[in-house]
Amino acid sequence: MKNSTANGFVSIDPDQSALKEVHNLLLSGVSPRPIALVSTISEDGIDNLAPFSFFNAFGANPPYIAFSPAYSGKDGSAKDTLLNLEKVPQCVVHAVPFELLDQVLLSSTAYGPEQSEFVKAGLETLESEVVRPKRVKYSPFHMECQVEQIIPLGDTNGSGNLVLCRVVRFHVAENVMQDGKMSPEALDLIGRNGFNYYTRASGSALFKVDKPAGQGMGIDQLPDHIRNSDILSGNDLGKLGLLENMPDQGAIGEYINKLKTGKPKTKYQKLFLHGLESLDSNPIQARKDMEIAAKVALNEGDHQFAMHVLLHLSPI
Ligand SMILES: Cc1cc2nc3c(=O)[nH]c(=O)nc-3n(C[C@H](O)[C@H](O)[C@H](O)COP(=O)(O)O)c2cc1C
Repeated sequence: MKNSTANGFVSIDPDQSALKEVHNLLLSGVSPRPIALVSTISEDGIDNLAPFSFFNAFGANPPYIAFSPAYSGKDGSAKDTLLNLEKVPQCVVHAVPFELLDQVLLSSTAYGPEQSEFVKAGLETLESEVVRPKRVKYSPFHMECQVEQIIPLGDTNGSGNLVLCRVVRFHVAENVMQDGKMSPEALDLIGRNGFNYYTRASGSALFKVDKPAGQGMGIDQLPDHIRNSDILSGNDLGKLGLLENMPDQGAIGEYINKLKTGKPKTKYQKLFLHGLESLDSNPIQARKDMEIAAKVALNEGDHQFAMHVLLHLSPI
């Protein structure tokens, strides 16, 4: 692989690199990727099933998804999925939960076109409503698709074939629905990373972030003493920059007075008040305490506290 190094980055020209290296760059850097478990059928009616993680959704009106069965990196041969789609342009794309992983891995091994991976992987089927290929009962989310285009992305070993599918029917397992929405915990989907790594999208891997409302004022509007803080990270500054406007001096004074006179309810409020008390006797430590209090508040979602407290600190 021909590499160069500058500014702390290794830069790689794909045209000068081995296919395996380029493949590994994509697998590792474009990750975690959702996994499509794709069911197709041959002209002779033999079922086929295989996973594809070069996969995503591309529009909702009408709903489009795409995945990419590549020509073999070793011998350039076409995968059964691609050969089937060229003859019967229909498929069912399934989401893959953690509990299905090993059966999906089994379906990814190279069985001949005469063998059904449904049988080899011991997967129970359901008939589809619109298309011919069958559905995998155990997956909680199925998309019956009409294949509209197969776009070749090259014609040699490792070249992809973008299969553009229009979804004609969705199926959602009732047991993953909570309050009319699919619950990510109940879905427990997996994603593919580089090499042999996978991601499990449940438990502590899941987190919630509110959608930004309106237009954030931007980090560039924050005063220098906040932007240059050694304690606040880029993410912390991003949270402040997402706020729509900055409080004026009057509002800051009022907010701080309320904190001083009220009973502290949180650890970060206590830490801030402690800092405020020692501002004259130990100004360096006091500033640190107050910035840490702001950081903790940002982590706990109290962005207004952080903004008022940080603006109350005078520039050094
Ligand atoms: C999790 C996972 C993701 C995969 N993603 C892809 C992919 O995006 N493109 C591809 O060509 N092969 C991919 N593969 C390999 C195919 O599943 C494998 O070649 C399979 O045998 C193809 O089956 P078929 O010949 O029945 O179509 C993946 C394998 C696994 C286990």
